[in-house]
Amino acid sequence: MDLKASIDKNNIPKHIAVIMDGNGRWAKKQGEDRIFGHHEGVNSVREIVEACGEIGVKYLTLYAFSTENWNRPKEEVDALMELLVSSISMETPNLIEKGVRLKVIGDIASLPPSCQTELQESIDRTAVNDRVTLILALSYSSKWEITDAVKKIAAMLEKGTINAKDITPRLIEENLNTKDFPDPELMIRTSGENRISNFLLWQLAYAEFYFTDVLWPDFRKNEFYKAILSYQGRERRFGKTSEQISSN
Ligand code: IPE
Ligand code: IPE
Ligand code: MG
Repeated sequence: MDLKASIDKNNIPKHIAVIMDGNGRWAKKQGEDRIFGHHEGVNSVREIVEACGEIGVKYLTLYAFSTENWNRPKEEVDALMELLVSSISMETPNLIEKGVRLKVIGDIASLPPSCQTELQESIDRTAVNDRVTLILALSYSSKWEITDAVKKIAAMLEKGTINAKDITPRLIEENLNTKDFPDPELMIRTSGENRISNFLLWQLAYAEFYFTDVLWPDFRKNEFYKAILSYQGRERRFGKTSEQISSN
């Protein structure tokens, strides 16, 4: 069956968030080093970004490195940072060709300077693109992001630029890293883990979740289309009744 052709073009999620998990297990299955799995995972990233452009997904957020991932063995952290630099440098021409704009969320200042420079260069070079916005979550965790937002709001209170009554969901959103992006309608996690691992806790409040056993390096276009088809089969009620939704 042609999965891509089965997708309803009028019901494409505007924003999809992905927890790219299972690189290490994928590599181990072939008797290879975990790092080999991370390298292969980059090929999945390329395919999924391309698929977004083809079917009209405007925003794609990829969880690439969590604040908790700093606790991995140093060799793995170093290899991931190197992979980040080389992938960004290699892929930027491809992003430009595909009309992809790069953005980042997370504690970017905690990344090695070479990563920060490479990221900024790619962000600048892709800034005019508007087909797809690719958001990399790097040294990201939702608790870090929300804590940071609370600090910014507390500073405004201290300065007297706002009062307690001005604190609304909107003000909180305006102080999150994701302030320029709509909330994801769909969150995908690969590798069979059914958890959220400190990812976009606020922004996923009403997202549809799709969990698959497929490991990230095996998650290619057809797997992505399956996730979108699953999303399209769901009724999003936002607290209303099914009858209210179908009468609209
Ligand atoms: C996801 O794959 C990539 C990162 C977290 C950087 P993992 O490295 O977590 O792979 P598994 O879960 O150990 O298989
Ligand atoms: C979540 O994957 C973070 C990323 C995909 C970058 P992990 O593999 O680190 O998550 P846990 O720790 O198993 O939940
Ligand atoms: Mg994992």
